[in-house]
Amino acid sequence: RDIFHYEQVSSTQDIAHQLAKEGYGHGTVVVADEQVKGKGRMSRAWHSKRNEGIWFSLLLKPELPPVQAPQITLLAAVVLAEAISSISDLSPQIKWPNDILINHKKIAGILTEMQAEQDQIQYIVLGIGINVNQDQSSLPEDIRHKATSLRQESGKTWEINWLIQLILETFENTYEQFIQEGFLPVKNKWEKYGYRLGQEVTISTMRKAWQATLVGIEADGALLTRTEEGIQEKLYSAEIHWG
Ligand code: BTN
Repeated sequence: RDIFHYEQVSSTQDIAHQLAKEGYGHGTVVVADEQVKGKGRMSRAWHSKRNEGIWFSLLLKPELPPVQAPQITLLAAVVLAEAISSISDLSPQIKWPNDILINHKKIAGILTEMQAEQDQIQYIVLGIGINVNQDQSSLPEDIRHKATSLRQESGKTWEINWLIQLILETFENTYEQFIQEGFLPVKNKWEKYGYRLGQEVTISTMRKAWQATLVGIEADGALLTRTEEGIQEKLYSAEIHWG
């Protein structure tokens, strides 16, 4: 596979898009030591300082319809949770749709960007950011209360390149299983790591807020919830809170 490594980039996402347009294939990886304009979901910034974490984008060209793209994002969250579990005694959890938490704090995030044409995905750029070696003071002040790193949780520093290899291998195996067997194994694993599944939470959208129990995920990437009255509802975007 093609692996592009940079010391400093604006965002590995942008480079991966460029490579996709130049015709690079499925599995191409763009890694950076540092991003000066790292992107998070919902147009947020993603702090990506030199050698403090894993910042990479994976170019994927699945032969799938665009409606299945959310499955790949959920798969990526499973991969990160499995990789972290396999090398530590930490208990990562996945907060819907795809934040990785340890001890209730965010350690990794996933940003999926897709180019699609009618019924076919042209390509997906899957961006993965993992906080690895930051200590508490090197995380930005405004997110310190809700963010953490592998080092803070495990008490040791980690070798970044080794972790990237592990994640790519785990991704390959999980993706292969997904192509062979479909979404069910991914769903089962996701639910095994799912944060607050089976618990009652407060859900809010722009219009209202209500209590419901988190049940699981659906094949279209939705979060399945159930109210006390037994009404099931699928959510595609909402804020989830707990006491
Ligand atoms: C989020 O939780 O908001 C998603 C964060 C995604 C960050 C990664 S770091 C590598 C890739 N390049 C970016 O600019 N963003 C993603």
